[in-house]
Amino acid sequence: MTGMANEIITEIKNGIGVVRLNRPDKLNALNIELMKQLVAALEEFDADPDIRCMLITGNDRAFAAGADIGEMAEASMIEMYERNQFERWERIKRVRKPIVAAASGYVLGGGCELLMNCDIIIAAEGTMFGQPEINIGVIPGAGGTQRLTRAVGKARAMDLILTGRMIVADEALQMGLISRVVPREHFFEESLKVCQELASKAPIALRLAKEAVLKAFDMTLNEGLEHERKLFYMLFGTDDQKEGMRAFQEKRRAVFVGR
Ligand code: COA
Repeated sequence: MTGMANEIITEIKNGIGVVRLNRPDKLNALNIELMKQLVAALEEFDADPDIRCMLITGNDRAFAAGADIGEMAEASMIEMYERNQFERWERIKRVRKPIVAAASGYVLGGGCELLMNCDIIIAAEGTMFGQPEINIGVIPGAGGTQRLTRAVGKARAMDLILTGRMIVADEALQMGLISRVVPREHFFEESLKVCQELASKAPIALRLAKEAVLKAFDMTLNEGLEHERKLFYMLFGTDDQKEGMRAFQEKRRAVFVGR
C-alpha cells in the first residue's frame, strides 16, 4: 500500500509502516496538517495486525526543521491555547509498536521533539540537532525541555535549550540523544534494516518491552521494577514465549506469530 496525503507519504514494506515527512521545500516544517496526517498514519499502523514496527523519516536535507513558524508567528496567546496543537502529540506517546526514526540534515525544535518520541533513533553522519526556539523568543513546547533533559541530563539540556546551538550527530550520540550514527549515503536503508530486524521479533514482547522502558521516565524505580515484572509474567501467556524458548533449546530459528 502506498498512500499520499500531501504532507506525508506512507508505505507498507514487509510489515513495516513507513512515514516520510513530505514538505521538502520547507525543510519539513511541522505544520498542523502534517501533524494531523502523521498522527493518523501512526495510529492506523498501530492498529494494523500486519504491521510490526514503524519508521519515520524525512529527506537528506531535513528530518524536520521545527514547528511551522509561519503558522504561529502572529497567533495570540488565546489562539495558541485554543489551538491546543500539542495535545495531538500525546497520541504519538500512546503508539504501542516500536517507532524507528531515520534522520538526516536538520533535526530542530519540533523535529527534535518528534525524534525524541521515537524509540530507536538512527542518524546520518553530519545530521544537525538542536532546540533553537530561544532564538525566536520562545521555548520548546512539545516536550523538549522534559525529554531532552531526561535523555542527556540537566547540564547538557540547559546548554542546548538556553543557547539554541546545534550539535552534530556524533555529539548527539555521545550525549545519548540518539541510538546510532550511520554513513550518510544509506541512512534510510540502514534504518529499514533495523526495522526488519524488529519485525522478526515476537510482536507482543516488542510492545511490552517498549512500554516497560518508557515507564522508566515516569515511575519510581520500585514501581518500574514491579511493572516490568508483571509484563514479564504476562509474556508467559503467549505462544511466542513458548516458541522462542523451545526454538532455542532445539537450536533452530524461532518463528513468531504475535500470539
Ligand atoms: N517553519 C517554517 N518554515 C521553515 C522552517 C520552520 N521551522 N524552517 C525552514 N523553513 C522554510 C524557510 O522559511 C524556507 O522557506 P522559503 O524558501 O519559502 O523562504 C525553507 O524552509 C528553506 O529554509 P532556509 O532557511 O532558506 O534554509 P537554510 O538552509 O538557509 O537554513 C535552517 C536552514 C534550518 C538553519 C533555517 O531554515 C532555520 O533556522 N529554520 C528554523 C529553525 C527553527 O527555529 N526551528 C524551531 C521552530 S519552533
